[in-house]
Amino acid sequence: MGFARTIAIVSACVLATSALADDPIVIKFSHVVAPDTPKGQAAEKFKELAEKYTDGKVTIQIYPNSQLYKDKEELESLQLGSVQMLAPSLAKFGPLGARQFEAFDLPCLFPDREALHRVTDGKIGKELLASLDSKGIIGLDYWDNGFKIFSANSPLKTVDDFKGLKMRVQSSKVLEAQMRALGSIPQVMPFSEVYQGLQTGVVDGTENPPSNMYTQKMYEVQTNATISRHGYLGYAVIVNKRFWEGLPEDIRAQLEKAMAEATEYNNEVAKKDNDDALAAMEATGKTDFYQPTNAERAALQGDGARLRRDARTHRQEADRRNPPGSRHGRIARLGCARFSRAHPTAIFFVSRRSNDTKISGPP
Ligand code: LMR
Repeated sequence: MGFARTIAIVSACVLATSALADDPIVIKFSHVVAPDTPKGQAAEKFKELAEKYTDGKVTIQIYPNSQLYKDKEELESLQLGSVQMLAPSLAKFGPLGARQFEAFDLPCLFPDREALHRVTDGKIGKELLASLDSKGIIGLDYWDNGFKIFSANSPLKTVDDFKGLKMRVQSSKVLEAQMRALGSIPQVMPFSEVYQGLQTGVVDGTENPPSNMYTQKMYEVQTNATISRHGYLGYAVIVNKRFWEGLPEDIRAQLEKAMAEATEYNNEVAKKDNDDALAAMEATGKTDFYQPTNAERAALQGDGARLRRDARTHRQEADRRNPPGSRHGRIARLGCARFSRAHPTAIFFVSRRSNDTKISGPP
């Protein structure tokens, strides 16, 4: 080999190596909602901070509005490594075999965001995220959206109003049971298809926080909504485990810092976003937003005596199935007590043994 050729090969190798070293690490972050939702904005904030803290060594590519994948495919793609980061709703971990997250779907489980944060920031929240490890997933943090409201093309003031309605739900057994408990027919449907489903009458109604209802323009195809705030919708930010653990330690630490700040930002904007979305939808006059009276709320929650009896029975049953101190036991007992207060016609368990959500009828 001539001297000149050797030099040429060596220089090509040096150039290739430095190009590789300069190539940023790409994180594809796929999600199903609009950019101007709490999740959409937090994803942007994470991108801004992650690229700043890693000094451009990491590039975050955000794909909103189910551009890359719909609900179910995005989880499969994360496991396969085609995307590196997602923030699915806590109601969508069931198909992954992580039904314990469906405890968050229990109606009336959290009276307010503070109560919710005590769970997500505490031991249970951490244990739930850690339970994803066996699925090849690392749970980084929880992001808020908000409390859900019901909508349909007819008024939803009493339980009777729900009878026979086809209601779109996320892929959660607890949400299916909630709709059945109300006398309606649950239909699981990807988020990206909800507007069309409502428009064409494939489904009659749905539930979502105002921010999602507004940014997907669902108010255009729903004449009535009830500000029920009956359940919570939030997210777990998750990453592909092999990818995350393969990152250089300093980069991972910078990304964790960016995530902690993006989470704080998300939780700051989530409430205001939902309040603003509700006001904006009310201003269009397209949907009649109904604020239930105290009496209607009480009627929806069942009468006092039955309520106390059910709460006691359900708590005893939950205790039996979930020994005190067990991780799912604690959240299940709380859920049973609160749910029985909301709808004494059905109760839910998160069974510790099977990691499955069990649904039972009234005693
Ligand atoms: C839904 O499918 O209704 C929500 O999970 C969408 C989302 O990610 O907020």
